[in-house]
Amino acid sequence: MDGLILVTGGAGFIGSHLVDALLTTGHDVRVLDDFSTGKQDNLRGAEALAAAHGGHFQLIAGDVRSEFKMRDAVDGCAGVCHLAAVASVTQSLADPVGTGSVTHGGTVNAVRMAVDAEVPRFVLASSCAVYGDAAELPVAETCAPRPLSPYAEAKLAAEQTCAAAADAGQLAAVCLRFFNVYGPRQDPGSEYSGVISRFMAAAAAGAPVTVYGDGLQTRDFVYVGDVVEAILRALQKPLSGVSVLNAGSGIPTSVLDVLGRLEEVAGGPIERRFEAARAGDIRDSRADSGRAKWVLGWQATEKFASGLEKTWAWHVERPRA
Ligand SMILES: NC(=O)c1ccc[n+]([C@@H]2O[C@H](COP(=O)([O-])OP(=O)(O)OC[C@H]3O[C@@H](n4cnc5c(N)ncnc54)[C@H](O)[C@@H]3O)[C@@H](O)[C@H]2O)c1
Repeated sequence: MDGLILVTGGAGFIGSHLVDALLTTGHDVRVLDDFSTGKQDNLRGAEALAAAHGGHFQLIAGDVRSEFKMRDAVDGCAGVCHLAAVASVTQSLADPVGTGSVTHGGTVNAVRMAVDAEVPRFVLASSCAVYGDAAELPVAETCAPRPLSPYAEAKLAAEQTCAAAADAGQLAAVCLRFFNVYGPRQDPGSEYSGVISRFMAAAAAGAPVTVYGDGLQTRDFVYVGDVVEAILRALQKPLSGVSVLNAGSGIPTSVLDVLGRLEEVAGGPIERRFEAARAGDIRDSRADSGRAKWVLGWQATEKFASGLEKTWAWHVERPRA
């Protein structure tokens, strides 16, 4: 797909990697972000990438719930990648109304404006959280969703908003259910951050890490570059209607395993402290991404060891406050 692509949440962790990849492949890119968790710094290379690859980069500061901002943002676009959300289970439990407003309400606004502007393709960043504690692992898209948090509820509602527009023939939608994404630029600065970025930030600072629960809970970690590739394919493939697709590595890794691998990468022991399991956290998670392979020709290819090394290098090099 040629032409202008809107990335909402493009200043965030996944969004900024997507922006870089789109610009590198010669697209024009527009970002809409309110910088609530995203950072200007994540986009500092965007102008130079655009210049190097003959494209254009434009940044709109604003809220995805604003009709006025979103109307401007979708204008002339060939595709929308909608990543802006309150991307935290813990925060959603503290503020369920705000989470629903941004994560579902923002999607309603984005889809409505995309339909009005006749944008043909809409890609939604959804989440494995919609499954809750799945009865069977690996979990496939045929498994009935059982959201356990306002975050998961809002993601499921956002998928249904996309599906309704797609079923009405108004656009083609791809809802990608990301599993646990990790990589450079994942903000370690809050208690809501992904476990790998929290552990790495603590290890880089020589501080103890906090393990919630017994540490034997498993997650399906997928490298950010793999997730970006899934989004690029979701934009490109000739599709109609709605496609709901898992995007995970299919490999279960326990939180204690992550610590062990990190000690190898960091080259020394990491002190750990155990605290009670967090509300809304699921026990085990593992993707069956066979449908994404079939529909998009996609599967995760980054080895966990090399993904951890790249992420560790970023943590060691990044400037600290
Ligand atoms: N990181 C993961 O492991 C993971 C897993 C599953 C799904 N996801 C989804 O992927 C998407 C990106 O996640 P991320 O990890 O990059 O998080 P992130 O917090 O780094 O990125 C979210 C971006 O959205 C922006 N944003 C938030 N509210 C906004 C609003 N009202 N208006 C405009 N911009 C707003 C933030 O400023 C930020 O730049 C989210 O939708 C998230 O739910 C992430």
